[in-house]
Amino acid sequence: MALVTTKEMFKKAYEGHYAIGAFNVNNMEIVQGITEAAGELKSPIILQVSAGARKYAQHQYLVKLVEAALELNDIPIALHLDHGADFEICKSCIDGGFTSVMIDASHFPFEENIAITKKVVEYAHDKGVVVEAELGKLAGVEDDVKVADADAQYTHPDEVQEFVERTGVDSLAIAIGTSHGAFKFKPGQKPQLRFDILDEISKRIPEFPIVLHGASSVSQEYVKIIQANGGNLADAIGIPEDMLRQAARSAVCKINIDSDLRLALTAGIREVMWNKPEVFDPREYLKVGRQYVKDVVAHKITEVLGSDGKA
Ligand code: G3H
Ligand code: 13P
Ligand code: ZN
Repeated sequence: MALVTTKEMFKKAYEGHYAIGAFNVNNMEIVQGITEAAGELKSPIILQVSAGARKYAQHQYLVKLVEAALELNDIPIALHLDHGADFEICKSCIDGGFTSVMIDASHFPFEENIAITKKVVEYAHDKGVVVEAELGKLAGVEDDVKVADADAQYTHPDEVQEFVERTGVDSLAIAIGTSHGAFKFKPGQKPQLRFDILDEISKRIPEFPIVLHGASSVSQEYVKIIQANGGNLADAIGIPEDMLRQAARSAVCKINIDSDLRLALTAGIREVMWNKPEVFDPREYLKVGRQYVKDVVAHKITEVLGSDGKA
């Protein structure tokens, strides 16, 4: 099967009240862990690549790894640029074989966000590639986009219809209280998402796929393994899974997960390195990390996203 866009995936997810997992990939073990889980569970999947991932692993390596995963797993896979900061990086990924790109101009004023997004949409659609854009600002750190907590802004429902119509974008990332990274809420703070804003947005743009960034749940299982094996991630906290399940049943069709994979891979590597100081064969620790990535993705697909059996 060739790489697909997210068009069909999102249509089915919207109608079937489930969501597609969009998992960040940075190396072979991560690609393998994700796609083996999705392959076994017959789940469609989005593999996404950030500018940082391209800098680390190189575009060509990542594309070839994803092509290998496609050959080995009979499931629909979309290859997506995560948080494209400008037209140039989007163009480079569109020309370089991606089937979906995100242009993240959310830190610009509304009109500028529209203008940049529209330019990417025109180029992408011409080549059969779909585009995600963002309205509102998430707290936390993204590649070339840094948003302080105080600057984080929920998406204004009043703006979404005009934005979608004028840009022609295919999906929209919104800010309702999620954030990037492993420290999403302060200690003692009650995790909360603004489902009222999500509801209002989906009324304004019916049947339109919504995207949730910063959606790792920061599994305490892996945090504990890291803590027990020489790491320090005290106070790491994510989005509670019941909230993510609720989002997956709504107009949210794409749920972005990166930190949970980082935690799983790191937990596996730490566990081996800490307990077996004699190990120096990278395969010994990477295979445990890869298995934990696979476990976490299988858990997301079956217990949070509901995308198993939908390939
Ligand atoms: O949203 C950001 C993703 O977690 C990617 O992170 O820019 O460090 O690759 P990165
Ligand atoms: P997390 O840091 O919550 O995994 O979010 C990832 C993300 O939004 C990638 O775009
Ligand atoms: Zn993101």
